[in-house]
Amino acid sequence: MFFVAWLGRIAVYASMATGLHKPLSFMLILGIETSCDETSAAIVEDGQVVRSCVIASSLAFFVKTGGVIPEYAARRQVESMIPVLRHALGEAGVSFSDLAAIAVTSCPGLLGSLLVGTTAARMLQTVTKLPLIPVHHTLGHLCSTWLTDDSSAIPTIQFPVLTLSVSGGHSDLWYRTMPLTGKLVGSTRDDAAGEAFDKGATLFGLPYPGGPALAKLAFGGDRTKHHFPLPLSHEDGFDFSFSGLKTALKYLLRDLDAQKIERTPSVLKDIAASYEHAIVQHLLKQTERVCDAHPDIRELHIVGGVSANAHLQFMFRETFGSRGIDVHLPTKSAYCTDNAAMIASAGYFLLQANPVLSKTSFHTQSTGRLQLETL
Ligand code: KG4
Ligand code: ZN
Repeated sequence: MFFVAWLGRIAVYASMATGLHKPLSFMLILGIETSCDETSAAIVEDGQVVRSCVIASSLAFFVKTGGVIPEYAARRQVESMIPVLRHALGEAGVSFSDLAAIAVTSCPGLLGSLLVGTTAARMLQTVTKLPLIPVHHTLGHLCSTWLTDDSSAIPTIQFPVLTLSVSGGHSDLWYRTMPLTGKLVGSTRDDAAGEAFDKGATLFGLPYPGGPALAKLAFGGDRTKHHFPLPLSHEDGFDFSFSGLKTALKYLLRDLDAQKIERTPSVLKDIAASYEHAIVQHLLKQTERVCDAHPDIRELHIVGGVSANAHLQFMFRETFGSRGIDVHLPTKSAYCTDNAAMIASAGYFLLQANPVLSKTSFHTQSTGRLQLETL
């Protein structure tokens, strides 16, 4: 009953926020992203210029619980959806009649959360009759490096591009010749890079979300103090593996206790710095290998939540700068982590590739690998 009333409220909102249609020389897309704990809506112009990007997160609550509780996240998303949509359209100064399409994350993520976003998007589509574009969350991340808030400084991309996509759910290397065309050249065999940060942070007893907390602890620590073995260094290929690093950290902390070495802040800082450095070194080495094998690569793009890591950014800029490869990161940290602007951008490129694309029948799924158009 509550759900039906919620759908009714979305329908009423959409019909009220529909003004007179005026022809525009650019294409505005509404993006909706609810794959994890966040409720985000954004308006993006021509796939790149962010006119608004609103993110309501229930992260503060999950700091207390030590992790996301899916049921609670979905409830908060139901509550936040209409205010977030209203805020995004209001900040961009547009109504539904100004939009060219609605793009929504359809997979992968927490199923209940994804359903909140896709159900809202379907209802908006029913009322507004705008094209509806389901977007794979990872494709959104792959588009995040060309987002900008500044219409006078629109990033240009020189393909072929190598994209390192590192988040809590995946660690992938994509060789791309166009925004939607490319091949996966490397991927993680076990944990994702974000999980290496999150699980490492748990071993230190740090609060959720682990990545930023571990980076904070590591700041200023001695990165050479502890040695972590470089994963997959004796194998060919471009895959990643992080579970060994996490196990090495576990034993290092256990040995500390066995040797009765007190866990002082400076002892922990050096371990955290060495561990963070080991994760970054592994990402760096495998990325360098791909660049060695593909000398045509002009630019390296780094996307996903882990790309917000300051040590990673520094090391990649230093290493690839000296190789003559431009390193592109999202223009602000809000575009590294989950946001709806990247979904709107992906929706734009999907619509460009297929102007009649509008899918009301699609599956909302918790899993599913991204498939790019093959080369
Ligand atoms: O892309 P994202 O927001 O969500 C997923 O699609 O998974 O990435 C979240 C991941 C988490 O594992 C989080 O700990 C990590 O990104 N992360 C970081 C930092 N900020 C977020 N890891 C290291 N350093 C950071 N500053
Ligand atoms: Zn993500």
